[in-house]
Amino acid sequence: MIKVAVIYGGMSTEHDVSMISGKNVIDNLDKTKYDIYSLIITKEGKWTDKREREIKDVFKLLKEMDVVFPVLHGLYGEDGTVQGMLELAKVPYVGCNVLSSSMCMDKAYTKVILEKAKIPQANYIYLKDGNTYIDENFDEIKMANDEIINLIEQKLKFPVFVKPSNSGSSVGVSKAKDGEELIRALTEALNYDRKILIEEAIVGKEVECAVLGNDDVKATTVGQILPAEEFYSYSAKYQNQESKVVIPADLSQDKIDEIKRLAVKAFKATNGSGLARVDFFVQEGTDNVILNEINTMPGFTEISMYPKLWETEGLTYSGLLDELINLAIKK
Ligand SMILES: Nc1ncnc2c1ncn2[C@@H]1O[C@H](COP(=O)(O)OP(=O)(O)O)[C@@H](O)[C@H]1O
Ligand SMILES: [Mg+2]
Repeated sequence: MIKVAVIYGGMSTEHDVSMISGKNVIDNLDKTKYDIYSLIITKEGKWTDKREREIKDVFKLLKEMDVVFPVLHGLYGEDGTVQGMLELAKVPYVGCNVLSSSMCMDKAYTKVILEKAKIPQANYIYLKDGNTYIDENFDEIKMANDEIINLIEQKLKFPVFVKPSNSGSSVGVSKAKDGEELIRALTEALNYDRKILIEEAIVGKEVECAVLGNDDVKATTVGQILPAEEFYSYSAKYQNQESKVVIPADLSQDKIDEIKRLAVKAFKATNGSGLARVDFFVQEGTDNVILNEINTMPGFTEISMYPKLWETEGLTYSGLLDELINLAIKK
């Protein structure tokens, strides 16, 4: 039997999603192969077992495991922090390492690396604290609100998307169609991070591709999001039953192949290993493929896009978990 600890919950805004993802992973792990340990991190950061008893020596417990599956989304879990702890415990773990986890969690830094790899992305402006523009040379320029609005009109044009650099599940993300909405959107985003991205709004299809592997990376076909709201907000993702996903996306095979190639390239450029879900837009009119973000620990509920895409490729949810654990142990 392989001893596997599944870590879920976590201190991020995505705690509740991770609780569902973690339970689904545990339900689908093959009980004839794995001895499963549930490790739940509460919102306050307490580590407990599934009966809510506090685990006193987490580090010791981790060291006794053959492999760990951190099914954590967002800060303190998907951002390299837990991965660093697992490195120190010298225990194999599923998914990306410290560098790729922390980079992909931070949208501003992901942009810089992917620019270098010449992967198309939405044009953007990077701000700190809502009043400091970080320019192309990373020089800091203090700006008043009307100067920021002018800069947007020059470089991007409204409407724009405003996002905390470190976020997930669309928390703190909003669309602004003018200066007034922009100021409101900045205030909202600043609740979650000092670093803010302002991006041109892309009109088109929103699509996602699942990748799996260490050196030999495979990509699935592409799935499409049909959000029930103006964009794929928190409520459109988790509360609105009218949001739909379609597999495969309504795209030509050539487009799907292009997206698959870009997904693998982006995963490698960000030092990925194990898995990621790579999200794109296909722009209306130009048909350009534009990368939106890389999620190193995508949703793992039974209806989540990542496992669904692999099912389309003939890999069951349980088979996928076996593959992820094999990849962790091989690495
Ligand atoms: N530049 C953009 N153009 C159009 N829609 C966007 C843009 N950026 C984000 N969105 C919408 O907002 C949602 C959340 O943004 P995203 O960058 O994916 O953040 P998160 O990490 O929280 O998922 C996306 O799924 C998409 O619907
Ligand atoms: Mg997203």
